[in-house]
Amino acid sequence: MIILGIETSCDETAAAVVVDGRELRSNVIASQLELHAPYGGVVPELAARGQLQAIVPVIQAALDDAVMSWSDIDAIAVTQGPGLAGSLLVGVNMAKTLAYTLDKPLVPVNHLESHIYANWISNRGERWKRPAFPAVVLLVSGGHTELILVRDHGDYTHLGRTLDDAAGEAFDKGARLLGLGYPGGPAIQRAAQEGNPANYPLPRAWLGDSWDFSFSGLKTALLRQVEPYRIPAERIVPSPDLPFVPHRPPVYRDDLPLADLAAAFQDAVIEVLASKAVRAAVAHDARTLLLAGGVAANALLRGRITAGIEALASETKPVFEFPPIDLCTDNAAMVAAAGYFGLRRGMQAGWEFDVDARLSLVGN
Ligand code: KG4
Ligand code: ZN
Repeated sequence: MIILGIETSCDETAAAVVVDGRELRSNVIASQLELHAPYGGVVPELAARGQLQAIVPVIQAALDDAVMSWSDIDAIAVTQGPGLAGSLLVGVNMAKTLAYTLDKPLVPVNHLESHIYANWISNRGERWKRPAFPAVVLLVSGGHTELILVRDHGDYTHLGRTLDDAAGEAFDKGARLLGLGYPGGPAIQRAAQEGNPANYPLPRAWLGDSWDFSFSGLKTALLRQVEPYRIPAERIVPSPDLPFVPHRPPVYRDDLPLADLAAAFQDAVIEVLASKAVRAAVAHDARTLLLAGGVAANALLRGRITAGIEALASETKPVFEFPPIDLCTDNAAMVAAAGYFGLRRGMQAGWEFDVDARLSLVGN
């Protein structure tokens, strides 16, 4: 079955063609990074307008790259939520229009679930992946940090979640504090390369035996470290050409230990994530430990989990799987994959379904 996936949950406009939920035929992403950069984060109104401008050419490019025409497409999958309502509306209305005019099944997809299904996609001629259940998933994105037990397709149980900032959000806020720009995760990973995390030990919130996470204290601890180096900014005057006061990166003295602080911050976030993910997989007898979401692109996270699993006794070792780097952050291939498995469970929708900016993965 050939599915066209459409993803417009935030600031990326994406369309992809995937066969049988696994085989990637095309994957087109238009990013709005430059549009939001002056503001230090995503501005929802600008994001929705950008989606509207990009959606038609992106879908056309996904068909062209797959060397397919509309008659080849068997179904359309689209992100329903969670995300920014204005952005989601563009994708959902486009998907409804296409499904109606082409008379094809339409399947709404939960954005979080689609991140998990990035683990099913085989890229560039690799073997087809079929992660074994039960699986424990560490889902770490800009808006979510969750540990989830997946017993089968569509069978999700929440084990833990963040009590405050998401892991990606922590990276973004930490990078902003360090003057490293947006998105913060890749910027901190880069800056941390030359740094020694041991020079500035930052706190870890273990939260006892729970599978929950907390990152807001870490952000405050980083703020305390950088404050002494900060040079007070001049007064900010709004520009008549811009709708908002643009984000001014903080200015620091040259002796700010940027690499060490970035490394210490990354280490503090990743150590808790990796340790809890491995322990949760063992505690729930998982056959597979899956990574998902934008932060799954982080090399230290992948390395720490790999090391944590290697250290386990062989009979309790889950198989560790993670998506290719370009399928960790938002894309539509994962939407098409999740749509395929959703359709097999009868998740086809009528025309009445709407975007749901706060859609959750499981009810508990
Ligand atoms: O999944 P995603 O593309 O969008 C959401 O659904 O939120 O995740 C974006 C998040 C951002 O917070 C970004 O800083 C983070 O993923 N991220 C990373 C890395 N690449 C992206 N965080 C840590 N290390 C990375 N290499
Ligand atoms: Zn996402």
